[in-house]
Amino acid sequence: TPSERIRNFCIIAHIDHGKSTLADRLLQETGTVSSRDLKEQFLDNMDLERERGITIKLQTARMNYTADDGEHYSLNLIDTPGHVDFTYEVSRSLMACEGALLVVDASQGVEAQTLANVYLAIEQDLEIIPVLNKIDLPGAEPERVRREIEEVIGLDCSNAIMASAKAGIGIPEILESVVHNIPAPKDNSDKPLRALIYDSYYDSYRGVVTYFRIFDGQLHEGEKIKLMATGKNLDADEIGVLAPKQVSTGLLESGEVGYLISGVKSVEDAKVGDTITIAKNGAEEPIPGFEEAKPMVFAGIFPIDAGDYPALKDALGKLKLNDAALSYEVENSAAMGFGFRCGFLGLLHMDVVQERLEREYGIDLITTAPSVVYRVKPVKGELMMLDNPADLPEATKREYIEEPYVKLEMITPEEFVGPLMELAQERRGNFLDMRYLVLGRTTLVYEMPLAELVTDFFDHLKSRSKGYASMEYSMIGYRQDDLVKLDVGVNGETIDALACIVHREKAYGLGAELCKKLKEIIPRMQFKVPIQASIGGKVIASQHLSALRKDVLAKCYGGDISRKKKLLKKQAEGKKRMKSVGKVDVPQEAFKAMLSVK
Ligand code: GTP
Repeated sequence: TPSERIRNFCIIAHIDHGKSTLADRLLQETGTVSSRDLKEQFLDNMDLERERGITIKLQTARMNYTADDGEHYSLNLIDTPGHVDFTYEVSRSLMACEGALLVVDASQGVEAQTLANVYLAIEQDLEIIPVLNKIDLPGAEPERVRREIEEVIGLDCSNAIMASAKAGIGIPEILESVVHNIPAPKDNSDKPLRALIYDSYYDSYRGVVTYFRIFDGQLHEGEKIKLMATGKNLDADEIGVLAPKQVSTGLLESGEVGYLISGVKSVEDAKVGDTITIAKNGAEEPIPGFEEAKPMVFAGIFPIDAGDYPALKDALGKLKLNDAALSYEVENSAAMGFGFRCGFLGLLHMDVVQERLEREYGIDLITTAPSVVYRVKPVKGELMMLDNPADLPEATKREYIEEPYVKLEMITPEEFVGPLMELAQERRGNFLDMRYLVLGRTTLVYEMPLAELVTDFFDHLKSRSKGYASMEYSMIGYRQDDLVKLDVGVNGETIDALACIVHREKAYGLGAELCKKLKEIIPRMQFKVPIQASIGGKVIASQHLSALRKDVLAKCYGGDISRKKKLLKKQAEGKKRMKSVGKVDVPQEAFKAMLSVK
């Protein structure tokens, strides 16, 4: 396709505002996918994604479209992930586009996450087409939302398209607008090849498949190519378009979007953001903006049964093939035995990995509470990065601790401003700014320790705003504070995997609550079990579990055998998610207890 007939665009939308439904409609309207195949939403194709209703991995679909002017166009719809954990991937997929559909639910309005992505798109000079979706809903207020977009984003909405992805309203108008308002890619075919990798995934039969957008030059199948950030030389074994199934074409040119198979075994060797060029006499400068995906949140993952350690190692290795942002290294915990210290982009990423390990690989796991990466200055030696509280040097052996801070923006209907300010204050937030948007919506801006955010902040934000508030955050650097390590001992044994780093002022309250919570969670034993929280060896709170006298079976002596069996089975199931630490069985919930007492 000559570049003037190509349009590369994406959809920016808040979760649930209708991105997938609209994408399906566009595919259907252009005859790209038959209605029958649409049973399954085409763009979101990972199981977990469908269940959680979130987009994690990007997908691309090329649509052939004959516009009202009679010309044939090739429209590439590039999907973007919709969650705060994946901002970098969003920015790369935006970069592959010249325009974006901004889809806003006309019964709701602009949300913080949408705003963040729209600003990313504006920074990259994308042409933005506002689409007011769900106008079929009785509660839809397209005029209010139109004004909101104009006032909040400063985007001209006089040409906003009224649509209903569900009822099929406004779909032809959207396609025409894509053709007429989004610029064609620049034709740079005379330059040496530069193509941006905006997504890659691992396929067990074909190895890594990378999706890329050509900015300069052209790429022929079979050519020797080079990845500029990793310096790897490869063969372009197969290239083609995403129609949306992969169709080999042998050649792709400036402005086009496609896939590449090149014998790469792990996505780590074909990173999102890297530039593909020709091995000999290639481009001199890569496409700017490449970043390594950096884990922000760390947690220990331990097999419940020590015998599963090799299986866990194998499973992490396999997940890593498909997830360059996941990091892991062996961790040997005194209490938990061998496991892995894993790094994630954020909590959602962590949940997804944990769930896949359990579901796809069938390994029962204990995951410890997530920790951020602290910077610690030991008395002797260099500043160190520390992602495991258990490794914190004793108070006398360190000069100071610094923790990561974020700038947090919350958007909320006015009536929840009070509760959300309270929440931010409880989490050591410093108030920066409050701005009124339109018609009762407010932005609150805080700076806050990341550690306070990665626990259950998002859940609280949602519950205290009845689900109406949304949030977005970005890292702003490290700050020193009076932080201490809270140790937890059960039955006289310190459980390193339960240790956490907290602010000194909060330590006493947290310690007390944590002990209380653990007392509820840890099952009673045949003997008395003390539970203690301490700082630097000094106990600051304690509880104890009284001894369990009765045998579980005692109360159904003489009872029928099936009941007895059931009881034993129940007990065995209850055991599944526990880790024996010394003589005590500690359930998974105990390791996450810290999250719920904050
Ligand atoms: P994520 O994949 O989580 O980002 O969500 P999404 O933005 O892709 O939203 P999705 O398309 O899954 O739609 C969310 C819900 O809104 C679904 O229940 C859709 O059926 C519904 N929906 C989407 N578009 C419309 C519309 O135009 N009108 C109405 N009434 N409902 C719609």
